[in-house]
Amino acid sequence: MISETLQNAINKQIIREMYSSNLYLSMAAYYASINLNGFANWMRIQAEEEMAHALKFFDYVLDRGGNVALGAIDAPQVKWDNEVAPFEDAYAHEQNVTAWINELMDLSHSEKDYAAISFLNWFIDEQVEEEKNASEILDRLSLTHSSPASLFLLDNELKQRVFVPPTA
Ligand SMILES: [Fe+2]
Ligand SMILES: [Fe+2]
Repeated sequence: MISETLQNAINKQIIREMYSSNLYLSMAAYYASINLNGFANWMRIQAEEEMAHALKFFDYVLDRGGNVALGAIDAPQVKWDNEVAPFEDAYAHEQNVTAWINELMDLSHSEKDYAAISFLNWFIDEQVEEEKNASEILDRLSLTHSSPASLFLLDNELKQRVFVPPTA
């Protein structure tokens, strides 16, 4: 059985993952609107990944005998000034998410909830990937400013991304 405190904190995280999903889907729409369809694809897959994260937390609350309580999801931003800006935001957002996952881990430790600690380890590792991916693409994107050809190449590369459901 999960404690009420941890249950409520995870319920909050479910909403944050759903917000992340909507944010990236909104970025996908922005990239599609400027015909960077590879970037749009990458963001669309990212949105799917975030929904998978939300469902992973959702299932966990239920598995531990808790109650899922969904709430309002903030509206995401819909416009960006240039093609670099969404990835600046994405990288900053992932750093925030890492801080929230760390808070959940702190709470699990203070409650000596070893099952929750084990569960959250997956997200600790996942956030390393998330920050790395966002910052890598941001760095490469920043270098394409003076070279439309390299922007086109990167767009083609990001077109190849496919959704891989997260494993347990
Ligand atoms: Fe996530
Ligand atoms: Fe993420």
